[in-house]
Amino acid sequence: MLRKGKKKPPKSEFGKDATADEVTSLVSLKGKTVLITGANSGIGFESMRVLSKHGAHIVGTARTFKKADDACACVAGEATPLACDLSNLHSVAECAAEIAERGIKLDGIMCNAGIMGLHKLQQKDGLELHFLTNHLGHFYLVTELLENLKESRDARIVLVSSAAHARAPKEGIQFENLTGEKGYSALRAYGQSKLANALFAAELARRLEGTSVTANSVHPGVVMTNIARNLNPVLRSGFDMFGPRFAKSVQQGAATQCYVMSHPKMRGVSGFYLADCNNKKPNKLVRDEALAKRLWDVSEAECRRILGAEEDMPEAEAA
Ligand SMILES: NC(=O)c1ccc[n+]([C@@H]2O[C@H](COP(=O)([O-])OP(=O)(O)OC[C@H]3O[C@@H](n4cnc5c(N)ncnc54)[C@H](OP(=O)(O)O)[C@@H]3O)[C@@H](O)[C@H]2O)c1
Repeated sequence: MLRKGKKKPPKSEFGKDATADEVTSLVSLKGKTVLITGANSGIGFESMRVLSKHGAHIVGTARTFKKADDACACVAGEATPLACDLSNLHSVAECAAEIAERGIKLDGIMCNAGIMGLHKLQQKDGLELHFLTNHLGHFYLVTELLENLKESRDARIVLVSSAAHARAPKEGIQFENLTGEKGYSALRAYGQSKLANALFAAELARRLEGTSVTANSVHPGVVMTNIARNLNPVLRSGFDMFGPRFAKSVQQGAATQCYVMSHPKMRGVSGFYLADCNNKKPNKLVRDEALAKRLWDVSEAECRRILGAEEDMPEAEAA
């Protein structure tokens, strides 16, 4: 049910074929600063190119400073490269600290980076890697930067989720199996992390009610990018062979997230899941407020555990 006073996304004139260039054609982002994760590849790079073209100062982050720097060098406008490895919360903390030190005021964060379909279980800091990279890294980055965003009159957080959120385990998030050791499937783990993106956006929207900051999640469509690189070879060759017949181009894939980040119609719209630049009903798990609240609490505890654990380590072990 729509909460009282909550503004629904107005119907947009754009559909699945629209490109990021088309949906932003009348937009001016002069004086705005937008952070984009995974700005060196795919729809993140295209989002950076397009938002920059409309005057935004981009904070382009990537796994390494070199990747961020190379990507930022490709745009004509102002772009600040920063390292932000989302699977390493210390790197995320350094990125947030750097933003504070440089006095960068943000008007938006596009949580775009992601990994998909690691066919063998991979873990880091005691967590399954999709969950850590796609969800927890973004959770930490955004929550560290919330006060910064609140200083903007129209700040937007866009979580790049996926229709694959519907492939999450039936209970949603397997809190008792965040290591992946009690059972692992590549696509289910990806689905769980993308459900976490959508739940995080929904919970952010509830917590940010009454502020100038909005949060929404999007499905970009199936897009021909590097995202399939970790799939098992059979799925990978299927994606490479059949993808071009039905998938969106990178220019089309970046459209929904650029629309939500920049279009005047999306001002004040918060707590929705969009695809093809329009409101879309997500899986019912995304509307489970208790699940979203628990995910928030567990995410905070995991951040504390990971950051605290290493800080408390004796010097010999840490080395
Ligand atoms: N393409 C699709 O069909 C599709 C469909 C639904 C949703 N999505 C979502 O769209 C988003 C963008 O993906 P894409 O399709 O543009 O794929 P992509 O070309 O593979 O881009 C993914 C980006 O995420 C970055 N990344 C991965 N692990 C990272 C880490 N630990 N720290 C920081 N950055 C990291 C990658 O950096 P490196 O280059 O260094 O690896 C890359 O910049 C993802 O969240 C994905 O889940 C894509």
